[in-house]
Amino acid sequence: MNDQNNFAGKIGAILATAGSAVGLGNIWRFPTEAGANGGAAFLLIYISFMLLLATPIMIAEFTIGRHGQSDVMHAFESMSNGKKDWRYMGYLPVIAGILVLSYYAVVAGWTLEYAFRAGINDFIGKTQEEFTQDFIAFSSNPLKPLTWLFLILALTFGIVALGVQKGIERGAKIMMPTLFVFLAILAICSLTLPNASLGLNFLFKPDFSKVNSSTILSAMGQSFFTLSVGICCLCTYACYFRKDVNLIKDGFKVAAIDTLVAIMSGVIIFPAVYSIPGLSPDAGPSLVFITLPNVFQEVFSGLPVIAYLFSLMFYLLLVMAALTSSISMLEMSAAYFHKEKGMSRPKAALIMSLICLVLGAACSLSFGIWQDITIFGMGFFDLFDFLVAKLLMPIGGLLICIYLGWIVDNKDVYDELTNNGTIAQPLYPYFRFIIRYFAPICIAMIFITEIGLLKI
Ligand code: PFF
Repeated sequence: MNDQNNFAGKIGAILATAGSAVGLGNIWRFPTEAGANGGAAFLLIYISFMLLLATPIMIAEFTIGRHGQSDVMHAFESMSNGKKDWRYMGYLPVIAGILVLSYYAVVAGWTLEYAFRAGINDFIGKTQEEFTQDFIAFSSNPLKPLTWLFLILALTFGIVALGVQKGIERGAKIMMPTLFVFLAILAICSLTLPNASLGLNFLFKPDFSKVNSSTILSAMGQSFFTLSVGICCLCTYACYFRKDVNLIKDGFKVAAIDTLVAIMSGVIIFPAVYSIPGLSPDAGPSLVFITLPNVFQEVFSGLPVIAYLFSLMFYLLLVMAALTSSISMLEMSAAYFHKEKGMSRPKAALIMSLICLVLGAACSLSFGIWQDITIFGMGFFDLFDFLVAKLLMPIGGLLICIYLGWIVDNKDVYDELTNNGTIAQPLYPYFRFIIRYFAPICIAMIFITEIGLLKI
C-alpha cells in the first residue's frame, strides 16, 4: 500500500482518531445530557461506561481495521475464518456515514453561523428573549442554514479529498492542539466567574438520588456517540494505522482525551450558567446556542472586548471540533468507493458529500418549512439521529463484539493486539471477557430498552 494512504506518525493517528471522537458530542451533547441528568452522578456513570463498554469496543474496531489495512469490507473478510458473509459489515460505515454526516453537518453549520455572528459582534446588548428568537428564526429559515450546511460539507470534502496524510492527519494535527488551548483558556475564564463553585459542585459532587434508569441509559448512549463507536468509523481509521501502534494503549489515550474534553466543556459551561441568576443547567440542546451567547454577554457586560473574544473563541472551537468529526464521517463512506470500487479519492468524497448535501437539506428544513413532514412520527433530523444513535450504533456494536469475540480466532486477535508478540498486553484477558460477554449483554439491554421493547 502506498504510504500516503496511512497515517505517517503515531501521534497523527491518535490525533485524527481523537479528532473523530471529540466533537459536538462532547461540547454540545455532553453538557446537555449531564445537565438534564443531574450532573456529577451522570458523569460518574458515563465514565464507567466509557471504561467498560465504549473503549473496549473502540479497541475491537481498531483490531479489525488495523488487521485489514485496507477498508472495512476487506478487514471483516480477512479475519472471518472463512465466514465470508461478514464482509457485508463493510456496508455499515457507508450507510451510517452518510446518515450521520447528513444531520451532524446541519448542527455543524449552525456553529459556523454562530462563529460568524460572534465575529461580527452580533451578540452585543441582546437579551435572553432575543437570543431565543434569533435561534428559532435562524434554524427555521429555509435558506441561511442551507448555506452553512453547504460550506461545512465543502470544507469536509476538501480535507478528505486531500487524502489521509495531507488532509486528515494534517488537519487533526493543527485543529486538535488548537482546540485544547482554546478549551483551557475558556475553562480558566469560566472558573473566575461569580458562583463558579456552584457550577463545579453540579458537575463534580454526585447526588445519587437523581439517578434513575434513564440516567443510566443516557450515559451509555452518550459513551457510544462520543467515541464514534459501533458504526465502524474507528475501524475505517484503524485501516490506516501503522503496525507498530499499541492499539490498547492508544484506545485508552483517545478515550482519555475525549473524556477530558467533555469535562472541560462542563467546566466552561456550568460555572457560566450558574453565574447568572435564573438560568438553569438543564436548558437542553439550546444551552449552547441560546443560553451561552447570553451568558457571555451578561457575565462580561462591563468588558465588551473579553465578551467578544470569549464568544468568538467558543464558537470557533465548536466549528473545529465538528469538522474533525465530520471528516471521519465522510471518510467512512468515501473509503468504500475509493478502495472497493476503485474510484479516485476526490471523486468518491465528492459524490458522498453531494448525497449528504441533499439529505442534510431535508434534515435542515425539518426545523422549518418541512416540520410537518414526519416518518414514524419524526422529522428528518430526528429520524436520522434515531437511525444512527439508537439503531445502527447498538446493532453495529453488538455485531462487532460477536464477530471479534466469537468468530475471529483468539490467536489472531491476540497477535494483532500484541503486534505479533512484540509488546505485552496485560489487559488482554479483561478485554476478551468484555467483548465476549459483558458488552454484548449490555448493548442488547440498551437496544431493547431504547426501541421500547423493555421498560425499566
Ligand atoms: N464522536 C463524535 C462527537 O462526539 O461529536 C460524533 C461521531 C463521529 C459519531 C463519527 C459517529 C461517527 F462515526
